[in-house]
Amino acid sequence: MSAGDTGNDLLSGFQPPFEHFSTQALHVGQEPEQWKSMAVVPLISLSTTFKQSGPGEHAGFEYSRSGNPTRNSLEKAIAAVDGAKYSLAFASGLAATVTIVHLLKSGDNIICMNDVYGGTNRYFRRIASDMGLETSFVDCTSLKCLDAAIKPNTKLVWIETPTNPMMAVVDIKACAEIVHKHGDIIMVVDNTFMSAYFQRPLALGADICMYSATKYMNGHSDVIMGLASTNRDDIYERLKFLQNAIGAVPSPFDCYMCNRGLKTLALRMKQHFENALVVAQFLEADPRVEKVIFPGLPSHPQYNLMKQQCTGCSGMMAFLIKGGLENAKTLLKNLKLFTLAESLGGYESLVEHPALMTHASVPKEDRNALGISDTLIRLSVGLEDAADLIEDLHQALKAAHPNVIIPAERN
Ligand SMILES: Cc1ncc(COP(=O)(O)O)c(C=O)c1O
Repeated sequence: MSAGDTGNDLLSGFQPPFEHFSTQALHVGQEPEQWKSMAVVPLISLSTTFKQSGPGEHAGFEYSRSGNPTRNSLEKAIAAVDGAKYSLAFASGLAATVTIVHLLKSGDNIICMNDVYGGTNRYFRRIASDMGLETSFVDCTSLKCLDAAIKPNTKLVWIETPTNPMMAVVDIKACAEIVHKHGDIIMVVDNTFMSAYFQRPLALGADICMYSATKYMNGHSDVIMGLASTNRDDIYERLKFLQNAIGAVPSPFDCYMCNRGLKTLALRMKQHFENALVVAQFLEADPRVEKVIFPGLPSHPQYNLMKQQCTGCSGMMAFLIKGGLENAKTLLKNLKLFTLAESLGGYESLVEHPALMTHASVPKEDRNALGISDTLIRLSVGLEDAADLIEDLHQALKAAHPNVIIPAERN
C-alpha cells in the first residue's frame, strides 16, 4: 500500500507487505486434488470417524478430534500466512492458550505481559495458579524489567503486542533475544490485534504465534476459534498431542468459515488500517477528546518500533474522552454505527468500555496502574465508509459534551 493510494501519508513507512501473502492465503492447503470430487472450495467434512482399510490402516484420518480434513486445510493455510512450518486450530483463543500452557508442568513460572486480554490474565491468575503454575505480570515494553523477571524456573513468556487495551508496543525481536539467552524458555506472542497480515512474530524470534481467530483472522464475528503456529518440531509434536488429548478442537464448519475469512484478510486489513487512521486523526484533533492511543499515529510513543516490526496497523485503538464516567457512558449510548459490544476485528465497527466490560475481571488496582480508567474507550474500527464513522463519533461526542463548540460548527 503506498501513501499515494489514499493520500494519507501515514499509511507508508512500515515494513513492506509479506511476499506472496494473498496467494498463499488463497491456495495453500486448498488443493482440489485432496478431494475425490476435485472440489475447488474445501469441503466441510462432518464425519466424526473415518473408515480404515485394516486395523490401524487409514487414509490420514481416524477420528475427527485427532484430525479432520477441513481443519487440515485451514491449518495448512494459516501456517503459510504465518511463515510457519505448522499451525493448529483450537475451539477458541482461550482453548489455544490453555493448550499451550499444558506444555508446562507444576512448579514452572510464567512471565506474562502486564497488559493483556482480560481472559488471559484471569486464566493465569485464577486457574493456572491452582495447577501449581506461578505467573509474574511484567511490563515487557521494558527489556530491563523482562530480563530481571526471568527466574530459573521460568518456562514461558507471554506477550501481546500491541497490548489490549492500552496499545503499548512490545519489541518482539529484542524480547526473544533476552528470553532465549536464558535457555529453553518458550516465547509466545498473542498476535490477535495485528493478524498475520501486519505482524509475523515467528520471523522476529517468537516460538509460538497464537491468535484468537474469533477476531481478524476470521474477520466476520461469526466464529469462535483459536490458532497456534510454530516452526519448532518439538513444540508442534507436543501441541498436536495436546490438541487431541485435551480435545478443545473447533468444529469443521467453523474451520470452513475461518478458512473462507482468511481469503480476504489482506484486503480487510488494508481497509481497517486506512479507516482507523482517518478515525484516529479525527479524534486527535477533537477538543472533546483527551488523548488518542493508536500506534499508527506519530504521537504514539512507540510509533517507530511499530514501523520497524509491522507492515501496518489494524483497526484497534483506544482514546480517553474528556470528563468522567458519565461522559463516557453518554458517548457509548449515543453511538449508532459503532455497536457497543465486546470483541473486535470483525468487518463491523465495535466500541467498548474496558473498565466495565472486557477488563472488569482485572483487579481494580491493576487497571489503575495500567491506565484503564473510567474515560478509556476502545474502538475496533470496521470497514464502513470512514466518513460515516466520523459522523457517528462526532454526534455521540456532541451528546457527551453538549456545551463544547467545535471549530467546524462555528464556521
Ligand atoms: C488479544 C486476545 N487474545 C485472546 C482472546 C481470547 O480469545 P477467544 O475469545 O477466542 O477465546 C481474546 C478475546 O477477546 C483477545 O482479545
